[in-house]
Amino acid sequence: MTFAELAQRRLSVRDYLTQPIEEQKIERILDAARLAPSANNFQPWRFVVVTSEKGREAIIKSYPRDWIKPVPLFLLVCGNRNESWKRKSDDKDHLDIDLGIVIEHICLAATEEELGSCIVCNFDTALCRAFFNLPEAIEPAAIIPIGYPTNPDIFTNSLKKRKSISEVVLRESF
Ligand SMILES: Cc1cc2nc3c(=O)[nH]c(=O)nc-3n(C[C@H](O)[C@H](O)[C@H](O)COP(=O)(O)O)c2cc1C
Repeated sequence: MTFAELAQRRLSVRDYLTQPIEEQKIERILDAARLAPSANNFQPWRFVVVTSEKGREAIIKSYPRDWIKPVPLFLLVCGNRNESWKRKSDDKDHLDIDLGIVIEHICLAATEEELGSCIVCNFDTALCRAFFNLPEAIEPAAIIPIGYPTNPDIFTNSLKKRKSISEVVLRESF
C-alpha cells in the first residue's frame, strides 16, 4: 500500500466488533509508534496498552460513549513535559507536536493492519490518571480505541470532508 492510499484509508472509526486483536498486530503498531520522530529525538511519550476488562471499563468511564464499549484494545498515549524539548528562543514546549506525530503513526499503522482507530482527546484525564497510576509528570494526551470495524468496507468508502488545497496553501508568502 502506498502512503497516499494509507492516508486516504485512515479514518475515525466509531463502530467496532469485540473481536480481540492479534498480539503481533499490537506489537507492529507499537513499533510504528516507537519509530516516530520527535523534537531533538527526546521521545517524550509512553503508551499504556489496555485490553483487560477492568482497564477497558475505566477508559469507557472516562469517555462514556456507546460506540467505544465493544472496543477490545485502547492505547492511552501519554507525554512527559520533563522529557520534551523546549525551544531556546522562546521556551516553546514541543510535547504536543511530538504527541500529535506519534498518535498519527499509531492510527496509520492500525489502518495498515485493517484495524479501525479514532483519536479521542475529549476524555476525563483525572479519571485516567488515577486509574492507570500515572506519575505526576506524565500527562494523558489521547485515548486511541483500536479494533476491527463492523463494516470492513469502511476503509474504501471513506469520504474525506476537507478544505481544498487553495484554502489552506499559500505560496511564498501568507
Ligand atoms: C486532536 C484530535 C482530537 C480528537 N478528539 C476526538 C474525540 O474526543 N472524539 C471523537 O469522536 N473524535 C475525535 N477526533 C477525531 C476527529 O473528529 C476526526 O479526526 C475528524 O473529524 C476528521 O475525520 P477522520 O478522522 O474520519 O478523517 C479527534 C481528532 C484529533 C486530531
